[in-house]
Amino acid sequence: KISIVGLVLVALSLTSAQNDSDFLYGYFPDDFEWGFATASYQIEGGWNEDGKGENIWDEFTHRNPSPIKDNSTGDVACDSYHKYLEDVELLKNTGVNFYRFSISWSRIQPDGTNRTFNQAGIDYYNNLINALIANGIEPMVTLYHWDLPQALQAVGGWPNETIVQHFENYARVAYSYFGDRVKQWITFNEAFVVCQQGYGDGVHAPGIASPVQSYDCAHNVLKSHALAYRLYEREFKERQQGVCGITIDSGYYEPEDPTNPAHVEAAERAQTFKHGWYAFPIFFGDYPAVMRELIDLKSASEGLLESRLPSFDAYWSQQLNGSWDFLGLNHYTTELVVPENRTDPGWRGDQNTRTYQPEEWPASASVWLKVVPWGFRKLLNWIKNTYNNPLLLVTENGFSDTDAEGVNDQRRVDYYRDYTNNMLKAINLDGCNVKKYTAWSLMDNFEWAEGYTERFGVHYVNYTDPARPRTPKNSQRFLKQLFADNGFPP
Ligand code: NOJ
Repeated sequence: KISIVGLVLVALSLTSAQNDSDFLYGYFPDDFEWGFATASYQIEGGWNEDGKGENIWDEFTHRNPSPIKDNSTGDVACDSYHKYLEDVELLKNTGVNFYRFSISWSRIQPDGTNRTFNQAGIDYYNNLINALIANGIEPMVTLYHWDLPQALQAVGGWPNETIVQHFENYARVAYSYFGDRVKQWITFNEAFVVCQQGYGDGVHAPGIASPVQSYDCAHNVLKSHALAYRLYEREFKERQQGVCGITIDSGYYEPEDPTNPAHVEAAERAQTFKHGWYAFPIFFGDYPAVMRELIDLKSASEGLLESRLPSFDAYWSQQLNGSWDFLGLNHYTTELVVPENRTDPGWRGDQNTRTYQPEEWPASASVWLKVVPWGFRKLLNWIKNTYNNPLLLVTENGFSDTDAEGVNDQRRVDYYRDYTNNMLKAINLDGCNVKKYTAWSLMDNFEWAEGYTERFGVHYVNYTDPARPRTPKNSQRFLKQLFADNGFPP
């Protein structure tokens, strides 16, 4: 499939890695699949309906003063709890192969344990799954997209190891009730964000800021993933013929000065601290050596008797090692890296780097999201090289703007065009093993601490109208064409 044009492009990109002016025409592999992603708390609403239990985002958004930028909540959000059939229509109209959505844990186990069960929650997801299948859309289900049952947070949440068993029990309920029709399971969405924003920085629910709890959280999220994966492998896989994996989020980390070995090393360290924190245990059975070394050293110099980074014993290392059928990737942006000796404890300080984004990189509505399409291709290659080219599913990628753009979202069209084109290069020119692409998001929704001030949808949602009408944006038409063409016709 590699054309002369392709070879020239490779040569060009080797000489000027950041030159992105070279657009690649051509097609994705025939078996490539396209879809959209959403998450329960961000779209469903119905926060206390039909027996659903309270979760940490209900608790967090109901705090006074509100930790959310516009003081909003997900109480109603896009009202997908009632409007899911309309959502399925939007998906069908856009011509997707699959739909990635998440299950709200406390909707089916109100207190997060086997002691409680809510049939109405099961019914809701059954109805959604059946409607998808009736319309030829494959369901891809995330078990955990950040809405932990509040009762489990009350006993410590993810940093408390008892959660591992509860998560396995919850996974069993999901596989048992839905696994006859759901063939693609994602245990965790953005494990990094769960622990770093929830327990490290405290900007997300449950709002805890601790350089110790964030690592404990990660440890238990990883163990929970391993148990849920092994459970599927042991008791469901053969009968249900599905696959199970995890979604790890990562930006791409580029050395500020690629000719300076210290910068190159710092960028590799930042990349490893971000992606490898979760992926190394799953691919190799342990945390990256560079994390072990630095965090052990720093913990000792802080006078701690034990490293802030916990250890896996042989049992857990074995459970984790190889616990994937695919690797999910959420990717949005790129940062530049310089080395810096730091003493602030926690994920940022521990890695001895400083990262930033140059002012001149094109912005979005999110402070952290600058448009850097070439970084996507480089990250896909880093993953290919680091983990021996695993089956990779892009489970999120997208762009934010504000209410001002409305449905005329040209910058989102540009973003999708340039990012997917770099994915095409990674697949067709570099041999990266990418098989699915998921755009975030089907429609505007509750953007966590930013509330409704940032919009990621390809359908505009009018939040002032109780009916929450959805209107296609230009980007919806763009993606519909891209999905139909399965690439960029020359
Ligand atoms: C990652 C998360 O999975 C999703 O919930 C969020 O809305 C998007 N990125 C955009 O920030």
